[in-house]
Amino acid sequence: MKNYSSLDAFWMPFTPNRSFKANPRIVSRTEGVYCYTDKGQQILDATAGLWCVNAGHGRKEIAEAIGKQALELDYTSPFSFGHDIGFEFAERLIKHTPDPLNKVFFANSGSEAVESALKIALAYQSARGKHGKFKLIGREMAYHGVNFGGISVGGLTPNRKGFGPLLQVDHLPHTLDIEKNAFSRGLPEHDLEGAEALEELIKFHDASSIAAVIIEPVSGAGGVIMPPKGYLKRLREICTAHDILLIFDEVITGWGRLGSAFAATEFDVVPDMIVSAKGITNGIVPLGAVFVADAIHDTIMDAAPEGGVEFYHGYTYSANPVACAAGLATLDIYEQEGLLERASGEIGQYWEDALHSLQDLEQVIDVRNYGLIGAVQFAQPDGTATPIGGAMQLKCYELGVMIRAMGNIIAFSPPLTIQPEEIDQLVAAIRAAVAELY
Ligand SMILES: Cc1ncc(COP(=O)(O)O)c(C=O)c1O
Repeated sequence: MKNYSSLDAFWMPFTPNRSFKANPRIVSRTEGVYCYTDKGQQILDATAGLWCVNAGHGRKEIAEAIGKQALELDYTSPFSFGHDIGFEFAERLIKHTPDPLNKVFFANSGSEAVESALKIALAYQSARGKHGKFKLIGREMAYHGVNFGGISVGGLTPNRKGFGPLLQVDHLPHTLDIEKNAFSRGLPEHDLEGAEALEELIKFHDASSIAAVIIEPVSGAGGVIMPPKGYLKRLREICTAHDILLIFDEVITGWGRLGSAFAATEFDVVPDMIVSAKGITNGIVPLGAVFVADAIHDTIMDAAPEGGVEFYHGYTYSANPVACAAGLATLDIYEQEGLLERASGEIGQYWEDALHSLQDLEQVIDVRNYGLIGAVQFAQPDGTATPIGGAMQLKCYELGVMIRAMGNIIAFSPPLTIQPEEIDQLVAAIRAAVAELY
């Protein structure tokens, strides 16, 4: 039901507002893997919202848990007071994190969780007397949210430019190499040298000045860029050898997207911190978290005077009770339905085969996939400087499928509950869109 007179008041995020408002796309209802528009059209949600509704839409158990919690204990200060559900949720979460990541710091979003992780890294270095270790290393094409720390370590130029000098950060090269790795199934073979670039940055800055390296194990918003085989392990080795913290931003890759609870577990590489959000509550209530190694937490605790606040950081809504209730109900679903592992089974294979069937389109220059994430990259259309992704996104929506667009790349991350016939629907829509647009 529409209770507004115009679209003017809402300044929409990361949206071409003027063209959207000239041609609005309004979703009125969601259920399972589908959205329904205000005009009644059924749209396959091939992006799980924004890579977050991992258990699918309309999960009654989560809605009921939210309502129950709001009636029982809606809010209480998390600063110097506690509530049971915050402790319960933290304890449940760390059953899924790799050892020794057994401490949870709560935030409200991926962006805030990234800021929290970066500040924990700096607080840790200073707690152990390494005050000169304050530089951060990010990576080209990375997305770590939109706050100042996140855009500093992030590597997407439009998100960085125009926002001032930012933090002292250097960047690793991204790992997309279509010439060598096009149409890889799963992790690509080539370009382990990308990890060796960290040695070069360390030589340049000196390890004594570097606090932490932060990367997305699989880059999402940069275009679904995979780490070459062995890359993450090599980064871990280099960071350990130089006494530098390694942070995995798993805001997208966490909670079953790759076929395990985390990329860290899937690829058997344990970072010092994992940043999480999105799927942690099935995207229904905002919540972010940082999973922190015991030693980092303990060092910060031990360095503070007895009885004093150990870490001057936190949010009004850290461990918000309603968000924790949503998170607990989400974990119940993931565990009971085996969703965290589902992408590594038959459906993941079906996904891979279906996406790679698009190789026969001459406009397609790469297909990338892992678990239930994927992307198709197109050649730049002749005679125009405008990338094709935006037009593909609009055309697919007309054809009943919601996808993400980044330049000439279209990306997909459906609910982990997706079925083979729905994957077929996605692939058919892409084919039809290509036929109409080129
Ligand atoms: C890897 C990564 N980090 C951080 C964020 C920021 O999360 P949020 O939009 O919840 O602030 C995102 C969002 O897409 C992300 O993909």
